[in-house]
Amino acid sequence: MKLIFATGNRGKLREAQEILGEGFTLVTPAAMGITEEIPETGNTLEENSLQKAEYLYSRAKEVPGCFADDTGLEVNALGGAPGVYTARYASLRGRAGNGDHDFEANMDTLLQELAGCTDRRARFRSVVTLMLDGQTHVFEGVLEGRIATAKAGCGGFGYDPVFIPDELPGAIPNTSALTLAEITEEEKNAISHRGKALRAMAAWLQEHHGK
Ligand code: IMP
Repeated sequence: MKLIFATGNRGKLREAQEILGEGFTLVTPAAMGITEEIPETGNTLEENSLQKAEYLYSRAKEVPGCFADDTGLEVNALGGAPGVYTARYASLRGRAGNGDHDFEANMDTLLQELAGCTDRRARFRSVVTLMLDGQTHVFEGVLEGRIATAKAGCGGFGYDPVFIPDELPGAIPNTSALTLAEITEEEKNAISHRGKALRAMAAWLQEHHGK
């Protein structure tokens, strides 16, 4: 079955394809000729994820389904912020962020906001919305952890260098306080919020549409 995944990110596409397996062929919007920016104006992760999935579904009639994800970092001491504004955190806080996805400025902003704060609990939350045969299905994945006091590691992307996950895969001792940027992509995918949400969707698809 062919599904459109609302992403232009090769890493995300590869991760989702590996999780869904051979029975599903994932394509990007661009590969289906949808090259305009997909609207993302919601006030929650759920709204954004639904908005992107609905937009694609209305554009690509020849494909049975499509899905979109939206992820946010929710920090307890900040009342759940930056949440849906995670990508634009620095610029929204008036710090010279270089537009959306200025990862360094976003992390610096977060570390400054939490300076001296002892409650550093946080979580990544991903919401995946699948639209298939006119029906909407929502899946969620959460990775609990805490915000480090300084950046560490150079792997991954986004806030990985400042996020210390509670759970770690396989043989890594979970007293190690490693950030997501200090483990491999494979290790991260095994525990990540997005991986969990995608695996929940994959399980549902296998049950209802697998061979
Ligand atoms: P998106 O919805 O996947 O585009 O994620 C929104 C923002 O959340 C990104 O711009 C990143 O700053 C951050 N983010 C999402 N997933 C991760 C992750 O796995 N690690 C670190 N940051 C992430």
